[in-house]
Amino acid sequence: MTMEASSASTGTPPADSFLSLLTVRDYERRAQELVLPAMFGALYGGDGAYQWDAHTNNLAAFRSRQLRPRVLRGAPERNLATTVLGLPIELPVILGPAGHQQRNHIDGELASARAAGAAGTIFCLSTAASYSIEEVAEVATGPLWFQLYTFSDREVSEILIRRATGAGYRALMMTVDNPGVGSRETDSRYVRHNYSLAREHEVVETLEEERVLRNLYGIDRPGLPTQATFTDSFDQTLSWDDLEWARSLTSMPLILKGIQTAEDASIAAELGVDAIYVSNHGGHALKDARGTLDILPEVVEAVKGKLEVYIDGGVQRGSDILKCLALGARAVMIGRAALYGLTVGGEQGVSDVLRILSRELREAMIYCGVRDVREVERALVT
Ligand SMILES: Cc1cc2nc3c(=O)[nH]c(=O)nc-3n(C[C@H](O)[C@H](O)[C@H](O)COP(=O)(O)O)c2cc1C
Repeated sequence: MTMEASSASTGTPPADSFLSLLTVRDYERRAQELVLPAMFGALYGGDGAYQWDAHTNNLAAFRSRQLRPRVLRGAPERNLATTVLGLPIELPVILGPAGHQQRNHIDGELASARAAGAAGTIFCLSTAASYSIEEVAEVATGPLWFQLYTFSDREVSEILIRRATGAGYRALMMTVDNPGVGSRETDSRYVRHNYSLAREHEVVETLEEERVLRNLYGIDRPGLPTQATFTDSFDQTLSWDDLEWARSLTSMPLILKGIQTAEDASIAAELGVDAIYVSNHGGHALKDARGTLDILPEVVEAVKGKLEVYIDGGVQRGSDILKCLALGARAVMIGRAALYGLTVGGEQGVSDVLRILSRELREAMIYCGVRDVREVERALVT
């Protein structure tokens, strides 16, 4: 096993490794060195990579809009703190949900949740996490949100919602952009191949068997989803009528993740959803979805300030965050950026990625004459 593979598994980075990791792109490149190519391809794809059009569109949307800096607007301090659904956060960046983070690091979601708490922000736990709702709640030092996939066996989803409520999670995030049909091509091309490759090269598998779909561990239901049947177990009949079902099970506010049109944003606002999360699943769902920054303006306009709007997809820079805020997002979620940090350096790596984004956002605000993340003008972005 190489030093790098060992580092990825144990999370102990070589002493000097952080010196050269100045940007999220540096973390991406480093993670790419540590992870088997097949695994990297399956989980993250790349800009312009085959099958990753929606991810490519996310990145392109950021590049296609530029900033219009205002000058002579100096200030002694810049405020990065804001609130989301009434929760104070130190920076407008939240760790979005991503399944099986023990693939990235042995401590998986525990490390990510700790890093989010240390940075004064929120960690979203995926239904498909490798540490359970309760295990993460036990170590978390900041607020947690729970991301829900709705299974055909509603009883399983109901159990998860009740457990998240009981464990003190602060919001329920229903993912609505992934009906369970999108990932099959990627899975069969890459993931199975990867597991055999991993054995051939004796790379330590960080995902322990008992950590696969840990949230479902011990639930007593026939035909419980497994890793092999996971996406097939999603409820493809899910409709707007089901929001009432979710609401009836919890007092947590409801966030819809994966809204991509003004039409759906309007319906969500009418139905009293608490927040909308513009996302195309980081390119993991519909292949030819629009870049999310291109979607954001129509969604913000449609909801007319009635609810908060968040966004993710391709955020790599502080200036990307500023563009989202200018176009009306209350906060930005990151997927890959945090996962690269987790792969490279566990909790310390995620913390460092958050520090990088915070520093870059502050710098971009100073360059652009923005004093407060809650007051970014629309005219700041082309
Ligand atoms: C490896 C990986 C796993 C993911 N798992 C989930 C998940 O379990 N639930 C979910 O709602 N979204 C999941 N997503 C989508 C992310 O929440 C997010 O929408 C996306 O990663 C944002 O784009 P970015 O990675 O370019 O920041 C996953 C994304 C990645 C890359």
